[in-house]
Amino acid sequence: MEMQNKPQPAEGKLGVLVVGLGAVATTFITGVLMIRRGLGKPIGSMTQYDKIRVGHGKDAKYLHYGEIVPLAKLDDLVFGSWDAYPDNAFQAALTASVLRDRDIMPVRDELEKIVPMRAAFDHRYASRIDGKNIMPDGTTRAQMVENLRKDIREFKEREHCSRLVVIWAASTEIYVPYYEPVHGKLETLEAAIKADDKEHIAPSMCYAYAALKEGAPFIMGAPNTTVDIPAMWELADQEKLPIAGKDFKTGQTLMKSGIAPILRTRCLGLSGWFSTNILGNRDGLVLDEPANFRTKEVSKLSTLESILDGNDYPDLYGNYYHKVRINYYPPRGDNKEGWDNIDIFGWMGYPMQIKVNFLCRDSILAAPLLLDLVLLSDLAHRAGRSGIQRFLSFFLKSPMHDFTKNEVPVNDLFKQYTMLKDTLREMGGYDVDELID
Ligand SMILES: NC(=O)c1ccc[n+]([C@@H]2O[C@H](COP(=O)([O-])OP(=O)(O)OC[C@H]3O[C@@H](n4cnc5c(N)ncnc54)[C@H](O)[C@@H]3O)[C@@H](O)[C@H]2O)c1
Repeated sequence: MEMQNKPQPAEGKLGVLVVGLGAVATTFITGVLMIRRGLGKPIGSMTQYDKIRVGHGKDAKYLHYGEIVPLAKLDDLVFGSWDAYPDNAFQAALTASVLRDRDIMPVRDELEKIVPMRAAFDHRYASRIDGKNIMPDGTTRAQMVENLRKDIREFKEREHCSRLVVIWAASTEIYVPYYEPVHGKLETLEAAIKADDKEHIAPSMCYAYAALKEGAPFIMGAPNTTVDIPAMWELADQEKLPIAGKDFKTGQTLMKSGIAPILRTRCLGLSGWFSTNILGNRDGLVLDEPANFRTKEVSKLSTLESILDGNDYPDLYGNYYHKVRINYYPPRGDNKEGWDNIDIFGWMGYPMQIKVNFLCRDSILAAPLLLDLVLLSDLAHRAGRSGIQRFLSFFLKSPMHDFTKNEVPVNDLFKQYTMLKDTLREMGGYDVDELID
């Protein structure tokens, strides 16, 4: 990973191309448009609210991120999208039913102008989606890449963008396990794209490949393995572009990555953690398909492993049972309800239980993460950082890490926050000196 400390200034327009124009994407875009008119507040966004300490002793100051590093302004964001359904962002926001009409109508004109480009789509990867706004049947993987590259170039020119970021907020694809002969090297990945290898090249990989080839950082917001493979790390390094992923850390996993460090810090034992959810939006429908749920399951299960490590603490975490379920239940729409039953044990092995019942709103929790990931990836790009951006792990359920070198992912929310703060300090030219603050 290459680094230079001082980011270039954020001059000109930043094009934000969102793959998928569903509940999460429209809640994010509508929110930004409303916020910049002063009609909403960016609650939950670290880049808009959080302050961190820089300097120490009598020189200590608490500054917003934008006072430490040059971040793009909300007024400079321009949105584009691809989706399998032809609805523009206004219609899609109404269909998603996350926001009330009064939080959409004031920006109706701007939303109507965001018309999704044709999706690079393969039914086998998301069988519950049947939209017709897709590249024609028989489009090869190589043609998908070429079409997407053209879309990106044309958008950049049309909207007069000086920089771009591409972020995936489309459906979770079926699980594509790491397959070294294809995913291990850029050369083999490119050969597989050329050979139209539909089994190992997911449509999402075509988006990521196209974005990186067109000079845009790529962020994977679903649990898809897309950029979590050495071939894509190689491409990101070659093009000097940041990548981040995977899977937005919103509700249940946010809680998990906060509660698990409490247990670990107090050396309390764990015998089981059962997480279940009911969810009724289109995401829930897609995840009702076992092959798609598998991708999510792998991502959600990974959270505890590096925090509660049975090898390091066999008495405490040597033998716990971790199970995650998502149940599609239409009446709830986007308002997911999550239950966690946590079986813990204390002094002399006596059992206790913790129950968490989180009545959340999935897209309301996700939207600020998209904003932060977009702004911070663009910042990382201007700072000359390339490859996996571990400092963005804070926002992600299953943070990328170099598994070929046995690198351990950081899942502990508080360690992730430390990485985030230290990287901002470093890019702002301050000492990287995490103290108790
Ligand atoms: N909301 C959360 O809390 C949260 C957290 C983590 C991850 N996610 C992930 O974010 C993604 C979006 O969630 P959502 O609730 O907006 O879902 P959604 O179903 O409302 O929207 C997804 C959209 O992606 C489109 N799509 C599917 N495949 C595509 C492709 N190949 N190209 C372009 N468009 C495509 C679909 O047509 C759909 O409109 C999902 O993968 C979800 O798992 C959401």
